[in-house]
This record gives sequence, C-alpha cells and structure tokens, in this order.
Amino acid sequence: MSSALALGLNSQGFEFLLYNPTRAKAEGLKRRLKNAELWQGQSFDVVVLGFKPQKLSEVMEELTRILKPETLVLSLLAGVKLEKLQRHFGSRVIRLMPNLAIAEGRGVCLWSSPLDKKDNAFWQVSLNALGFAPSVSEPELDLYTLHAGCSPAYMYFLIHEMKELAQRAGGDPALAAKILTLSLQGALGQLTGEEDFKALITQVASKGGVTEATLSHWQESGALSQGLEAGLKRIQQLS
Ligand SMILES: NC(=O)c1ccc[n+]([C@@H]2O[C@H](COP(=O)([O-])OP(=O)(O)OC[C@H]3O[C@@H](n4cnc5c(N)ncnc54)[C@H](OP(=O)(O)O)[C@@H]3O)[C@@H](O)[C@H]2O)c1
Repeated sequence: MSSALALGLNSQGFEFLLYNPTRAKAEGLKRRLKNAELWQGQSFDVVVLGFKPQKLSEVMEELTRILKPETLVLSLLAGVKLEKLQRHFGSRVIRLMPNLAIAEGRGVCLWSSPLDKKDNAFWQVSLNALGFAPSVSEPELDLYTLHAGCSPAYMYFLIHEMKELAQRAGGDPALAAKILTLSLQGALGQLTGEEDFKALITQVASKGGVTEATLSHWQESGALSQGLEAGLKRIQQLS
C-alpha cells in the first residue's frame, strides 16, 4: 500500500526515500518513481508507516530513534488510533485509509488530520492526486475502512467464488472471470454512489427469479452482514 501511495503522489513533486526490510522491494519501487533514493540514513520531513498494524510495537522503538519532533507521520495502519500514534511519535500525525487504485489516481483515500488549516490545505491538494480524498473524522475513517480499504478485496472474493462455481459446474473459470469482471465494470462504471441501490437491485432481481434466490439466501443466512460486522469489530481490536 505504501508503494501505491508513492506512485499516486509521484506527480506531486515529492522526493522519496525508500526503506523496506526486503531491499529488492525498495529497489523495485525506486525504478518506478521519478525522484527516489533508497533510505540510507538521510534526514526527511515526512514518514509513511506502511507496515502491518500488528508490527507497530516492534517498529516503534526503531522509529522513535530516527524521528525528529517536527517529523510528520502519515499512517496507513488500519484501526490504529491517532491518540496512540501521537503518544509515540508526537502530535504531527495524519491517518490515511486508501485503496490500491490510488496508484493510478483512481482510488479513494480517506484521511483524518489534527493539523492546522494551512497544513491540511497542502495535504488536501496533494491527496487529491490519488482520486477521491475526503477529509473525515477519525470515527468515520475507521467506519469507512471497510468501504475504502477492504471493498476491492470483497469484490475480488466474489469473482473468485464465482470462478470456482463455474469450475464446479463444468464451465470455464477463465471465461467466467472475464464475463463477471466486464459485467461489474458495465454495472458500476457510470455510477456515482448517489443512485437508489434498492431500485437498481429490483431492476435485476425479478420476483421468484435466479438473482432473488441468491440474494434471499444471503439475507436470510445473515452471513454477508455478519462478515461485514466482523470487519468493523477487527478495526476496534487493532486500535
Ligand atoms: N492492502 C490494502 O489494500 C490496504 C488498504 C488500506 C490500508 N492498508 C494498510 O497498509 C499497511 C500495509 O498493508 P499492506 O497490505 O501493504 O501490507 P504488506 O503488503 O504486507 O506490506 C507491508 C510491508 O511492510 C514491510 N515491513 C515489515 N517490517 C517493516 C519495518 N520494520 N520497517 C519498514 N517496513 C517494514 C514489509 O516488508 P517485508 O515484505 O520485507 O517484510 C512489507 O513490504 C497496513 O497497515 C494496512 O492496514 C492496506
């Protein structure tokens, strides 16, 4: 995700210093950026936290030795609260919740910032390069982590499951994936999010039909909504 962020911000005039425990990963990203070096102890103004939230305590000690009080910390860590980050890294922390399409400027990057108006105005302009980048409160950032960060995987899961279904039923999984991907592009491509989604469902799911059979099963079993609730619960556990 930190690679996607760097690629999305590549046009914004930043100079990148790259560090990854697996050096080849940093070298690979360096080749894709306009203005980047491997980090070898150089000083920097902003640091992006792009490791797994579970690694925070392990990395914290290492990082606090490197950071200056004025260093701005951009945290990608899902669920980890501003208060906790500020306690460890000082007051200059912004939380981001992006998805991978930010690499091409077609993603969503929610952000929550306690910084002043001038700093926030700067970051709003920079983050706009990633796609849709609304500034939100911290509880909203956590809530919409499912909608921004996780939703692409929910879609990929559906495609994967439907590929498997095609295979089990003697079909061609590759063709199934193509049909589904193009169908989703056609169905979602022109949407803005302001549509009446219940009405859109009714357009497809006629009474007693095939679509309704699947949707009713999802609704009655509660599996889909319980899965989403489990995601929300996990965010609280990570904080
Ligand atoms: N993936 C998403 O779609 C998504 C969406 C929103 C937010 N996020 C957030 O983004 C963060 C990264 O997620 P990810 O999916 O990109 O995970 P990832 O693919 O596992 O990447 C994590 C990276 O952190 C590196 N790392 C491990 N220890 C480190 C250390 N001590 N210092 C610096 N880097 C270290 C890993 O390097 P090695 O491979 O060498 O161990 C790896 O390259 C998470 O906090 C997640 O909550 C992810």
